[in-house]
Amino acid sequence: MAFDAPFDIDAIRAQFPILARQVNGKPLVYLDSAASAQKPDAVLDAMTSLARTSYANVHRGLHTLANETTQAYEDARETVARFINAEPSEIIWTKSATEGVNLVADTFGRSLKAGDEIVLSVMEHHANIVPWHFLRERYGVVLRFVPVTDDGRLDMEAFEGLLNERTKMVAISHMSNVLGTINDAAQIVRLAHAAGAPVLLDGCQAIVHSKVDVKALDVDFYVFSGHKLYGPTGIGVLYGKAERLAALPPYQGGGEMIGHVTLEGVTYADPPHRFEAGTPAILEAVGLGAAIDWLGTLDRDAALAHEHALYQRVVDQLAGVNGVRILGTAPGKGAVLTFVVEGAHPHDVAQVLDRYGVAVRAGTHCAEPLMKRFGLTASARASFALYNTEAEADAFVSALAKARSFFS
Ligand code: ALA
Repeated sequence: MAFDAPFDIDAIRAQFPILARQVNGKPLVYLDSAASAQKPDAVLDAMTSLARTSYANVHRGLHTLANETTQAYEDARETVARFINAEPSEIIWTKSATEGVNLVADTFGRSLKAGDEIVLSVMEHHANIVPWHFLRERYGVVLRFVPVTDDGRLDMEAFEGLLNERTKMVAISHMSNVLGTINDAAQIVRLAHAAGAPVLLDGCQAIVHSKVDVKALDVDFYVFSGHKLYGPTGIGVLYGKAERLAALPPYQGGGEMIGHVTLEGVTYADPPHRFEAGTPAILEAVGLGAAIDWLGTLDRDAALAHEHALYQRVVDQLAGVNGVRILGTAPGKGAVLTFVVEGAHPHDVAQVLDRYGVAVRAGTHCAEPLMKRFGLTASARASFALYNTEAEADAFVSALAKARSFFS
């Protein structure tokens, strides 16, 4: 369905049934989309319709339902490929972005030895730290971390200084889930490639809040999850350049990833199937394809501008407010507002906001090193999606004022 108006927020909201509900007697104000976004009817319907009318396993049957489901599943792969300007054979279905990073770390990591270096950054969330720590523990690989400036940017000079002939991989967030900073991914890739290192970008947030073109970025690996992109949970994407994927050994073993199996040995399928052992998340892959198709019915630039305007509206209203500290003020940042309220634990702030129907995340945001960098153990985060409204932004500010007076 195409919208007549460039960005018709009422028509969009009408497609998200959950947004009409009440929480604690108040209209829901859902500002936790960076953790997991709500899903439009188009996604829910695509999954239900497949399950109700045409469901079977994929790549395993010769009957009609198996063929139809395989077609829908592979169409979704093509949709993802088009969305990020990749080839379908470069798209690997994973269960999450986390699994995508683990897949690359585990398989690429097998060629590493003690003293080899991986460059990460202090703004990574745990999904892009812990899999690399496994390599440190297993092989004695050294992890180097790009520092973050006070306004929440990567220190690019320091980054350049960390690159050397021992650097075997650079794995960095395209957009911080805490600071909202959108990193200069093209420059990261250029510098890393000049040093001979491939790059993995964690696109969990950037895929939602910016337009991603993996070819233009020249990035080697790119991961994101479905559920932050208005799609289902349980499905994620690993993009890998064809030549990079061809060089990786398999990750997990099982059906679908093999060429032939004998009692004596096994040969492996080509990518992407080499990395897709077992029955995949079929309905979820189709749901993610539907989410991307649905996004394609919108004016994406208008949607991104809308989210950012909401973020800016809140920042402007909080500008004169004492006792609220905002983390991350990098130019061009995405619509994520992480904050702390003086004298109040973020968990308590989130609970008071919830009383007013406002859902925000509180805690470390799976980014403990970043919290530590800013001298915090936790913070609260309001994240804006294309379905949020100005009235919701104002409701958040007003609920926050009430929360502040509660704790003062
Ligand atoms: N990484 C997700 C978040 O930022 C879960 O909330």
